[in-house]
Amino acid sequence: VKTLLILGASGDLTGRLLLPGLAGLIGTGRVPGLVLAGADAADSGGQAWRDRVQKTFGEARDAANDAGRRDLDEVAAGTTYRAGDVTQPGVLGRMLAELEGPAAVYFALPPAVTEAACEVLAPEEVPEGTTLVLEKPFGTSRQTARALNRTLARLVPEPNIHRIDHFLGKATVLNLLGLRFANRLLEPLFVSEHVAKVEIVYDEELALEGRAGYYDRAGALRDMIQSHLLHVLAFLAMDAPASLGERDLRDSIAATLEVASVPEDFARSARRARYTEGSSQGRPVPDYAAEAGVDASRGTETLAQVEVRIDNPRWAGVPFILRSGKALGRRRKEAVVTFRPAGHLPAGFRGRDSPTRLRIGFGPDTLVLELDVNGPGDPYTLDRVDLRADLNSPDLLPYGEVLLGVLTGDPTLSVRADTAEDCWRIVEPVMAAWAAGEVPLEEYPAGSGGPAGWAAPPLT
Ligand code: BG6
Repeated sequence: VKTLLILGASGDLTGRLLLPGLAGLIGTGRVPGLVLAGADAADSGGQAWRDRVQKTFGEARDAANDAGRRDLDEVAAGTTYRAGDVTQPGVLGRMLAELEGPAAVYFALPPAVTEAACEVLAPEEVPEGTTLVLEKPFGTSRQTARALNRTLARLVPEPNIHRIDHFLGKATVLNLLGLRFANRLLEPLFVSEHVAKVEIVYDEELALEGRAGYYDRAGALRDMIQSHLLHVLAFLAMDAPASLGERDLRDSIAATLEVASVPEDFARSARRARYTEGSSQGRPVPDYAAEAGVDASRGTETLAQVEVRIDNPRWAGVPFILRSGKALGRRRKEAVVTFRPAGHLPAGFRGRDSPTRLRIGFGPDTLVLELDVNGPGDPYTLDRVDLRADLNSPDLLPYGEVLLGVLTGDPTLSVRADTAEDCWRIVEPVMAAWAAGEVPLEEYPAGSGGPAGWAAPPLT
């Protein structure tokens, strides 16, 4: 890719995640010669865009290497801006015609705008070699995801479509492959015979943070579980891919998610809740229903928990509990694999005999193996010990990692068409049960650990 065109140049995603991720990537010197362009609706946005790029790229200079610093300066000095409403026929086509190709077009726009922009784009307006980059959520249902896939397939071949899920750029998620498949101690144990349950938890302290326009129509299930946590599940549960190449890795992800589903007793297997007034990180948090821009009658959940089953010989009978929520008292972002009891323990041991647990932290990036050993003093009294490793911090932010794939034409870390649809297939029965009122919308005060009686409290 020669040129990266970001649509939604003045948006929140561009400023908060895309430009910092891109700047970090350019700073490594790995994308020499890149040209950056921004586009948005406002005619007057050019100066603001250049300022935005200068500021973010300037901040990235310190961490950059020599080649990277030079590239950062060059890209910032040469960046251009285009104004236009890309949902109008011909507008995006004209922009594409003017770019130095081949170009990648990043739709950093609300889903409905992205869909409209792709629909009005004619195949003949898309120069050969163009890459289309789409943010999550990809559609709003299986049907809309399929329709969007069809629209995109008219425009460019599948390898040139990058559906972004930045969890695929997180080092700890990618590390799951090495951790699982390179260690004799773990590789044979990731099967139902040895694993009792797997929890994937992404509890955030952050509340709505002014994102009502998007979040109130999404909710925790669509925002976090539908794609992010299902991909973590795929990495934890997949069979070993033949290689880490695009085809093999994405086939393994697809094969795992294809046989995943939520058990139909939704009142037990899929719970939802919404926060009420409270405080988080020392700040007062208003009742979600009273936040500006929220329509309380939508019944949007800010905490969701679903149990997923994987119907294959490796995982038959093992519950995978996926949970994520906002405005919780404690940040907890980890996968916890709980192993079955050792079996026979000779008589005479005292103290605890707890299941072995492997905990993989997604920020901070940590690994903890919890084992029972003899405690202080008496050698026959069991006590808990944590073998803990703090993992090296990666050189790229998650958005830098996925952008590297975009800019080098490698779609491995993007979501393939079939998987994007399958992720919706898994959560749709839950969405339907909730919409039909089959599962109560529970409440929890902001800053608490969630409704009473939910999953185990934070382990740390
Ligand atoms: C985003 C969600 O995709 O992921 C946010 O829209 C969420 O609601 C975020 O906070 C979490 O990812 P990270 O990498 O910022 O922890």
